[in-house]
Amino acid sequence: MDITRVCVVGGGTMGNGIAHVFAQKGFHVTLVEANQELAAKAVATIAKNMDRQAAKGALTAADKDAALARLKTGTKIADAAGFELAVEAVPERLEIKTAVFKELETHGAPGAILATNTSSLPITDIAASLKDPSRVIGMHFMNPVPVMKLVEIIRGKKTSDGTTETVKALTVKLGKIPAVANDFPGFVSNRVLMPMINEAILCLQEGVSSKEDIDTIMKLGMAHPMGPIALADYIGLDVCLAIMEVLDKGFGGVKYKPADLLRKMVAEGKLGVKSGAGFYEYPKK
Ligand code: CAA
Repeated sequence: MDITRVCVVGGGTMGNGIAHVFAQKGFHVTLVEANQELAAKAVATIAKNMDRQAAKGALTAADKDAALARLKTGTKIADAAGFELAVEAVPERLEIKTAVFKELETHGAPGAILATNTSSLPITDIAASLKDPSRVIGMHFMNPVPVMKLVEIIRGKKTSDGTTETVKALTVKLGKIPAVANDFPGFVSNRVLMPMINEAILCLQEGVSSKEDIDTIMKLGMAHPMGPIALADYIGLDVCLAIMEVLDKGFGGVKYKPADLLRKMVAEGKLGVKSGAGFYEYPKK
């Protein structure tokens, strides 16, 4: 199936980034948010991020205008009816995602592919109540979406080879690189990344080093673009905790136990960049 019309559900950090890259690469996108105010906020973020690209010469003003003209918004999935691909990026709760997929199933073009950007929920569970789970797949983009090259493609137990191949080819059309994982807790990305972040938080909790030095050691010593404590703030400490809990539940043992300090920070509402404070402070500009 030729994919030209894309529905993105959710306009938060990941959703607006996903809508951004599809619109930029020539797809007609409908971004669905809970209300017009949130939808307008998502579009304003996309325009601002495109300005960043334009300022660096990575996008012309005409390309930006054309991309924004391909981007529409809606407040219900029916507003995007007839899409050939949907990418869901709503909060990481199975019941919310399941309800979204039930609706996506009724409003897509025949044979439409239904993708989720979940960072750790099982694709197989999200697809379980649908008539055709072979068309459900994980398309796990990385933050910031316009910059990061990877899309982790996750195959649920019933995802077909055809769906996988179509989504891999589509990822290449977006200028990104696909890498495929099977449906295990945390897939590959977060099974490897989150225990490293959790271990860095344990180093801080146990007084092994300061947050600044932990970040410097990992950033300069391992050539990572950010240290793990700063990265945790960037991802969101609530997101990190939720992923650690999925790993802990899925595998058990001490290896995946969330650090007490991580739990404490989340309980105090210190969620990282998005809340203005996490391990570091992020004063409003
Ligand atoms: N939209 C468009 N462009 C953006 C952008 C955005 N949202 N954010 C950054 N950029 C661009 C900047 O304009 C800049 O462009 P040039 O290279 O052309 O100058 C470039 O990206 C670098 O940005 P900055 O100069 O502002 O800052 P930086 O060099 O410190 O890089 C960073 C910032 C890209 C975030 C970098 O620190 C980085 O790569 N960090 C690691 C990010 C990472 O690991 N992401 C994965 C998190 S895990 C995840 O997402 C999945 C999950 O399930 C939890």
